[in-house]
Amino acid sequence: MSGRFITVEGIEGVGKTTNIEFIEQLLRDAGKDVVMTREPGGTSLGEDVRELLLGHKHDGMSRDAELLLMFAARAEHLDKVIQPALDNGKWVLCDRFTDATYAYQGGGRGFDTAPIATLETLVQDSLRPDLTLLLDVSVEIGLDRAGKRSEPDRFEKEKHDFFERVRQTYLERAHADASRMKIIDASQPLDAVQVQIKETIMAFLQNE
Ligand code: TMP
Repeated sequence: MSGRFITVEGIEGVGKTTNIEFIEQLLRDAGKDVVMTREPGGTSLGEDVRELLLGHKHDGMSRDAELLLMFAARAEHLDKVIQPALDNGKWVLCDRFTDATYAYQGGGRGFDTAPIATLETLVQDSLRPDLTLLLDVSVEIGLDRAGKRSEPDRFEKEKHDFFERVRQTYLERAHADASRMKIIDASQPLDAVQVQIKETIMAFLQNE
């Protein structure tokens, strides 16, 4: 039987790293064989592309190049990691996926939805996440938390307005596809956030 594909999304500073580990543990406790991975990245080629995308060597990168690099990394990731794992009945838990492209390249950089959707179909065929958790905080809180970490990458250097558009695009997508994409209020204290996450994962497991 094919596995399930779960993704976690949100702007910078929403607490993705801590909470994705929590989700992994919930799935393992439920007896699932979990593959944890991330985008951009997850393969040797993908991690090299991640460096190109996040580093400052190519600060003036065109937005077309950025969009195509995201999908190039994704094509390799699907071919080498995600699809084989799903075919083997594993549960794939991915830190970001194509919702991030709609939010960052679409909302943030201003790409129309149509070219993103064309690339999505080209690269993924009919594959879409079964469940997506959108960790949501205001841009003020997110950037404040992210700013306390290391040197900002090429996206973290963007301005407040960029992240406002990214956040709004994520929220619009979640409202338009509410059965797949669940909004988690990540502005609350960690234990309250994890209560919401646990409820979401348990409800999903129950419907399996
Ligand atoms: P992170 O996964 O460490 O949060 O960083 C990845 C960065 O890449 C983040 O700023 C969002 C950005 N990104 C896009 O712009 N488009 C995408 O499709 C993906 C997967 C990530």
